[in-house]
Order: sequence, then structure tokens, then C-alpha cells
Amino acid sequence: MAHTLVVGIDSSTTATKAVLVDPADGQVLDRRAVRHPAGTAVDPRHWLKACDDAVGDWLGRAGAVAVAGQQHGMVALDGADEPVHDALLWNDTRSAQAARDLVDEMGGPQACADAVGSVLVASFTATKLRWLRDHRPDAAARVERVMLPHDFVSWHLTGRATEPFTDRGDASGTGYFDARRTVWRHDLAERALGRPVALPRVVEDGAAAYEAAAYEDGAGLVLAGGTGDNMGAALGLALLPGDIAVSIGTSGVASAVSTTPVADGTGAVTGFADATGRYLPMATTMNAAGILDLHARLLGVDHAELGRLALASSPGAGGLTVLPYYGGERTPDRPDATGTWTGMTPATSREDVARAAVEALLCALADAVDLVRSRTGETEGRVLLIGGATANPAVRALAPAVLGTPVHLPVPAEYVALGAARQAAWARAGTDAPPDWPSAGTQVLEADPTPAVRGAYADLRDRTGAWTRTERTS
Ligand code: XUL
Repeated sequence: MAHTLVVGIDSSTTATKAVLVDPADGQVLDRRAVRHPAGTAVDPRHWLKACDDAVGDWLGRAGAVAVAGQQHGMVALDGADEPVHDALLWNDTRSAQAARDLVDEMGGPQACADAVGSVLVASFTATKLRWLRDHRPDAAARVERVMLPHDFVSWHLTGRATEPFTDRGDASGTGYFDARRTVWRHDLAERALGRPVALPRVVEDGAAAYEAAAYEDGAGLVLAGGTGDNMGAALGLALLPGDIAVSIGTSGVASAVSTTPVADGTGAVTGFADATGRYLPMATTMNAAGILDLHARLLGVDHAELGRLALASSPGAGGLTVLPYYGGERTPDRPDATGTWTGMTPATSREDVARAAVEALLCALADAVDLVRSRTGETEGRVLLIGGATANPAVRALAPAVLGTPVHLPVPAEYVALGAARQAAWARAGTDAPPDWPSAGTQVLEADPTPAVRGAYADLRDRTGAWTRTERTS
């Protein structure tokens, strides 16, 4: 049998999602999903088991595989390559003080952004290493290697037969990588952890990182470098410069492909690299699909009913405005925040509570879109909406109204896993650029803008705190 098919893996916060793809045209032939344990600190070995369960039987028939993973998570291993601590994930805020300390040590927010592309917040790997140094010194003293979630899964797929590897995109979210020069800042990793630590080899975009022993037909399974999930989504969507991808998953993300780096000293936009030699300026919210989960749970309904209720209310949710920073927030930078509801009256209905959830989610994402556009200066491109929550009819109906712009809805697909598959096909082909796969087409959603909804949200946001760390300290 010819081993031509490629496998793309999305090792996400909630699950391993995988697709088996024909590299000739990007057609998805099969898909799988295996759940991960919940929580913001997880034993990373669960992801390896989930990956094996998802793709174990595909790999014997595949020509190439790549892993895209949740960004930033800290996988810290001892001399025997066992985790010294649960992996602290991107949405774990215990390292907020460590982030402030590191930014100060680096000379302040702008100096930090100039060095590593972004102002560190609690999501970044460096801050988690500092937390480990300060709060678990015995564990910190045993750390020999640090890697990202996708690196740990890729390395597992090689049978640990090579040195761990990563890519420029995911490395740019560590806080100790200079994406403009494509070099690790070993000094910054050491400063964060308090001891020198081995970091993965950085694989060139689209190159093969490893080739496993040959099948009987002569070719071996190729592993590409993999990347972060948001870089994977950009690759899966074949995002064009100027386009903004808005993703509603566990996190809410607005990201744009750009040929020039961003070093935003306010910290609102992170200056990541993409997986094709360019950059991926991004604004990320920590609360996204979980807002809908929480309001649905409070109302005792499922997501379909939440959507139906939301559509039965009216713009502005009868005056109920929600700041949905339930798990702490990053955009705006308020790691210790909780949710705020205002404007409840005896007339507030279940419909309004559902509507307020959808409006709050979309207002937070509208802020993220504006921030990215203000930093890239590109205001003309498409806004594409992806992620599981796009299945909700209320999200689809209200997105163009709250965002104030037509919204392109690509055919629902696992775009992160698809991007990983595209990278795998690229590495297998050994070409200069990723394969051109026909785009699946988009539906354009339109609605009359509802600026008053964003106005109420912005008022509440600004009344309850600062936007960024820079604003707080200036
Ligand atoms: C981006 C970020 C999240 C995670 C989600 O900076 O923290 O989008 O990548 O998996």
C-alpha cells in the first residue's frame, strides 16, 4: 500500500482532534476526537495516551504527520524525561505576579515586547517557569528540559528517537524566543527558571523534523515540526494578509497574518510568529465558549436552547450587560477578575440572560479584532469566524451585528488539525510553500450593526478596571 495520506493533530485544551487527509486536495477522509482531562494544570502524559487512542491505527498507513497544540503550556521534565509537575496551561493564571516580575526585570513592557515580541502575561511559558522556581523550588531544581505541549506529543510520536523539536510559531509564545531572529533567548529561560535548561531544536517552517524507519515500500513516516494551535488554524484556513480569523474555542482569538513583526508595548496584541515565515499578531481572550457553557448551565438548558432563548430577546438583552471575565482575563489584562453583571431588573428574563452571554462573548471578540487591526493597520480584509461555538445559531446571527461587519463563515471543520495536515503534506513534499488546497468556501453573514451593545459593554469594561498593565502604571 502506498503511504500517501497525511495526519493532522490538534492537541487542544479539551481534546485531541485528528484528521486523516488526502494530500492531493486536502479532502478529509476520516476524523477522530479523544477528550483530555479538565483543568488548567494537567499531567501532560494524558495527551500522549489521547494521541495514541486517536491516531495509533492511522500512522501505519500515513506518509506524514504534524501536531498543532494549545500554545504556551509548560512541560517541564527531569533527567529521566518525566514531568516534574503538572503542565500549567495557557489559561492558568497563578503566574500573574511572576509575569509582572519578569516584565520589570526585562526593563518594562516595551523592552519586553522588543525582546520577545510580546509583553508577558500569565499565559506565557516563561512566567510558569518563574512560578515553579518561586513556589515549587524542589521541582524547579530537577528540571532538565522544557518544551511546549505540541513538542511533547511530536516527540512521543518519534518514540523519543530524536532530540525534541518545535517550530518558530509555537516557540514565539514562550517568552524566551526572538522570532525576528529565530533564536532562543537561553538567558531569559534561565532567568525565569533560575537554572539552565535544554530547549527543543527549532525546525524550519515546512521542513521534515524526523523520518521514521522506512515502510516496506521504501518511504518512512515524516514528522513535520508542528506548531501552535492558532498558527495551525491560520495554515488550515490559508489566511491571507489582511484577513482576521476570529476563533471561538476555549479561548477567543483574533489573529492576522502579517509580513511585518508587531512589538506592542501595551501588551494588548501579542507578536507571535506564524508557521510560514511570517507573523501572527493576535489578541486572545481567556473566556470564550465557556461563557456559553456557564450561562447554559445556569439556565439549565443545552446550547441549542441557549441559542433559541438568546434570539428571542432583543439587542442589549433588556439592559443586562455582562463582563464575562469569569476565569480571570487577559484581554483586558485582568488575571484576577471575575464576572460582572449589571442592569438586572425584575423584568430581566431567561431570554435576556442567554442573550447577554452571546453579546458579551462577541463584544470581547470585537475588542480583540479592533486591537489587531489597530496594530497591523490593515482594515480591509475579511473577518472569518471559526470554532465550535459557530454551530450556535445565535452566535451566527449576532456576530455581524455586534462586530459591525459582514462575517465570513467557512464550512465548519477542524481548521487547526487541517492546518497540521497541510504542514505534514508540505514537509512530505519538500516544496518551498505549503500545498494549495481548494478552499472549502464560506457563507457570508450580514446584519444591521448594534453599536449600542458594544457601547454598554465598553462602559462597563472601562468603569471596572484598566485595559492593560501599561495603562495601570502610566
Ligand atoms: C493564545 C492562547 C490560546 C491557546 C489555546 O495565546 O493562549 O489561544 O493557544 O489553545
